[in-house]
Amino acid sequence: VDLWIIALRILHVGSAILWVGGSFFIERFFQPTADELGATGAPFVSAVLRRRMPTYFAIVAAVTVLAGTALYWIDAGGNVVAYFTDGHQGTIFGIGGIAAWVSFLIGGALIGPNSAKVAKATDAMATSGPTPELLAQAANAAAAIKRAGQVSIVGLTIAILTMATARYF
Ligand code: HEM
Repeated sequence: VDLWIIALRILHVGSAILWVGGSFFIERFFQPTADELGATGAPFVSAVLRRRMPTYFAIVAAVTVLAGTALYWIDAGGNVVAYFTDGHQGTIFGIGGIAAWVSFLIGGALIGPNSAKVAKATDAMATSGPTPELLAQAANAAAAIKRAGQVSIVGLTIAILTMATARYF
């Protein structure tokens, strides 16, 4: 057995589970709840972000795409172009890999920075109370997170479908 492959697969599939499951939880439960509660829920959102939720996603998403890319490189025998264009599993793993990379980049470029803005605004509300300006800042950042999150979820869904089935192409 190849211990390197096994280690990379544990890292890859394990971190992908944590990334994708967490993303769907936020999309389906956390975000709608925060939207519904507004200023009442702000302390809860703030406390969750203080537990470094954005760092959690940065780490599990980075491990997923880096381990996945390493596995892809190994499976391709170093010839990534030939593997991607094989019309079989190389193409399917490749499509899923690109989709997941897009989700990863969206997360880093849009979701992470806007989460920091939400954290800043909700922390300020804890001392100064929910001023209209702070509420608007938090709402704008939350709206940007929601749009980016929807695109990210599409990429992750493509990754789930392709990764789960690629071997059979
Ligand atoms: C959230 C996104 C992702 C999920 C949920 C995911 C999930 C999985 C799963 C469950 C497997 C096992 C499939 C099997 O052995 O039949 C797998 C394998 C694989 N994944 Fe991903 N993956 C993701 C992202 C990526 C990325 C970004 C790449 C980079 C190109 C990638 C490349 C691979 C490769 C090459 C394999 C085969 C590994 C081997 O040789 O055993 N994956 N993935």
